[in-house]
Amino acid sequence: MSLVFLFTLVLVRSASALVPPIHKIVESVASPSDWIHVGSAPADHVIPLRIALPQANFAALEEHLYAVSNPAHERYGAHLSKAEVEALVAPHPDSVSAVDTWLSEHGIPDGACTRSPAGDWVSVSVPVAVAERMLDTTFNVYKHAVHGDEIVRTTRYSLPAHLHEHVELVQPTTLFSRVNNRRKDVRSAAHARAYDARSEGTINVTRSDGSTVAIDASCNTTVTVPCLRQLLNIGDYRANGTNGNQVAMTGYLEEYANYEDLQTFYKDQLPEAVNSSFTYTLVNGGINDQDSSVNTDENPCMQTMLGLAFPAPATYYSTGGRAPISGSYTDNIAPYDAWLDFVLAQDTLPQTISTAYASSEQSIPESYAKRVCAGFAQLGARGTSLLVMSGNVGVGDANSDPETQSCWTNNGNHTKRFLPSFPASCPFVTTVGGTRYVPEVAADFSGGGFSEYWSRPSYQDGVVSEFLTTQLRDTYADLYNPNGRAFPDVSIQGINYRVVEYGQFGHNGGGQQATAAFAGLVSLLNDARIESGKAPLGFLNPFLYSTGAAAFNDITSGNAPGCGTQGFNATEGWDPITGLGTPDFAKLKELALAL
Ligand SMILES: *[C@@H]1O[C@H](CO)[C@@H](O)[C@H](O)[C@H]1NC(C)=O
Ligand SMILES: *[C@@H]1O[C@H](CO)[C@@H](O)[C@H](O)[C@H]1NC(C)=O
Ligand SMILES: *[C@@H]1O[C@H](CO)[C@@H](O)[C@H](O)[C@H]1NC(C)=O
Ligand SMILES: *[C@@H]1O[C@H](CO)[C@@H](O)[C@H](O)[C@H]1NC(C)=O
Ligand SMILES: *[C@@H]1O[C@H](CO)[C@@H](O)[C@H](O)[C@H]1NC(C)=O
Ligand SMILES: *[C@@H]1O[C@H](CO)[C@@H](O)[C@H](O)[C@H]1NC(C)=O
Repeated sequence: MSLVFLFTLVLVRSASALVPPIHKIVESVASPSDWIHVGSAPADHVIPLRIALPQANFAALEEHLYAVSNPAHERYGAHLSKAEVEALVAPHPDSVSAVDTWLSEHGIPDGACTRSPAGDWVSVSVPVAVAERMLDTTFNVYKHAVHGDEIVRTTRYSLPAHLHEHVELVQPTTLFSRVNNRRKDVRSAAHARAYDARSEGTINVTRSDGSTVAIDASCNTTVTVPCLRQLLNIGDYRANGTNGNQVAMTGYLEEYANYEDLQTFYKDQLPEAVNSSFTYTLVNGGINDQDSSVNTDENPCMQTMLGLAFPAPATYYSTGGRAPISGSYTDNIAPYDAWLDFVLAQDTLPQTISTAYASSEQSIPESYAKRVCAGFAQLGARGTSLLVMSGNVGVGDANSDPETQSCWTNNGNHTKRFLPSFPASCPFVTTVGGTRYVPEVAADFSGGGFSEYWSRPSYQDGVVSEFLTTQLRDTYADLYNPNGRAFPDVSIQGINYRVVEYGQFGHNGGGQQATAAFAGLVSLLNDARIESGKAPLGFLNPFLYSTGAAAFNDITSGNAPGCGTQGFNATEGWDPITGLGTPDFAKLKELALAL
């Protein structure tokens, strides 16, 4: 309704158009090879534009983030409030008024726009005809050569020269990708093995500190909550449940967590938790689907996370839609920005959040990736620990099948390269890789590598340069960016989880399970901090890479192949497949409480 109104206004206005301002190109891309030009986009096709205004003081926010997250800093634990964070990322008033003027020149009333809490994102749906005038471009319909889905895109867009310093990006415009990223892969419950409940004795595991622990032998084939508690040295620690500590998982791309399955899981592995559940929070049109017969990975992951975090109150964020960079519904890029808009608008945040999605970094335009990563930094500054999965295809392309991936760059050079995944590559999250078996070795799928977008943050400088100079040396020299943010940061058991999917027991594995387990563990650490009257841990990495590093079991064997290579090896010290290693809860808790 408002669109029709809007369109009319614009027609009226363009009839008396003034001399248009001089436009300068913001972005231009080569015509994508996989997409066939079909014709011009219909003038009345509606495009949901997302306009990002520069965050005037992001550098200051980053400084605050490191101050409150670095154990050596006097402000450690003094997290920022919602208002403080918003003030730091708010666009400059000049940017706001320049963009508002530009929108109104195109007949777009303020009421047609929605804005993020800090005002750094403006969203508005406009017909193609309007978008073409705003961006001095022509939108076309492109059809995917293989899959046949159609998107509306342009190969370049421009903005009036005076707006360039006030607008960071406008999407969806130039991105062409077809991301088949459901992560439901060969290690899913569909390939479940029968549960072998026989006691098989114990396996004596020698930790990297020389100590020996006895792990139930069954954990080598079936990972349950009791197994995880042994592997992670949790002992009899339990969370409080009423001290304000909360845990959450993000669900995107029509993935849901099931209440009934959680009860079945609890009966099997944690009887005292039966009758306790979690809450759905619906974001951006997301739904609570308890009937779907489609197996979704987040469902078993929720079970694993809550198996450790119980009885902390838990939330499942079901976020609808796609990232604005993905034009067609078959583009599976999670709408991280929509979730961030929602969650950053809340006064209270869960202290621990698990996000188990991955796309190849190059398939996400750098400007969008940077904005999402900046949103994650805001969560950290406010005291939330965000765990992200490192990926399921080693050094390979998160967007393609492990078997068929070719690992070509999409920057026009068409060179072979390892493809880091996003959001794993964001320096403001804690990225989780996977291990397998008892004793643990690196899992062959564990994603790892080096960002092409972010340079190496100082918190990991020591261990990553050590890996590069003493372990890797010249190997793979042309295949990765040695100066990039390296991941994963940590790892944890990643296969053979005994879980329930739509009433059936099965085994599930992959980076998503590992991330959920690590989030459960971090939730217990945050519980311990809160119990002793301290601030939650917030952004973990400065702690993990400094005093926390002593609490990790170094994983030194295994590799994760990809891109036609053997990938990286797990080595002594940090490595880009298991990070610092697997966590020892008792040690981490002691170190965390000493902060
Ligand atoms: C594990 O260690 C215990 C205690 O030292 C010992 O009794 C047992 O035989 C060991 N088990 C194996 C399989 O080595
Ligand atoms: C654990 O399982 C792996 C894979 O089947 C096997 O290679 C390893 O020997 C097992 N570990 C023990 C201690 O039996
Ligand atoms: C849990 O936390 C609440 C609130 O801080 C406190 O009153 C209660 O004693 C705690 N319960 C246990 C079992 O520690
Ligand atoms: C769960 O609820 C049922 C029905 O109210 C009750 O019989 C059972 O004892 C409860 N179990 C636990 C562990 O609280
Ligand atoms: C393409 O390769 C050349 C030569 O290696 C390099 O200088 C250039 O930066 C590359 N282009 C892009 C977009 O990465
Ligand atoms: C990984 O280890 C194997 C076996 O030691 C070795 O042959 C290979 O060169 C190593 N690869 C890398 C990338 O370090």
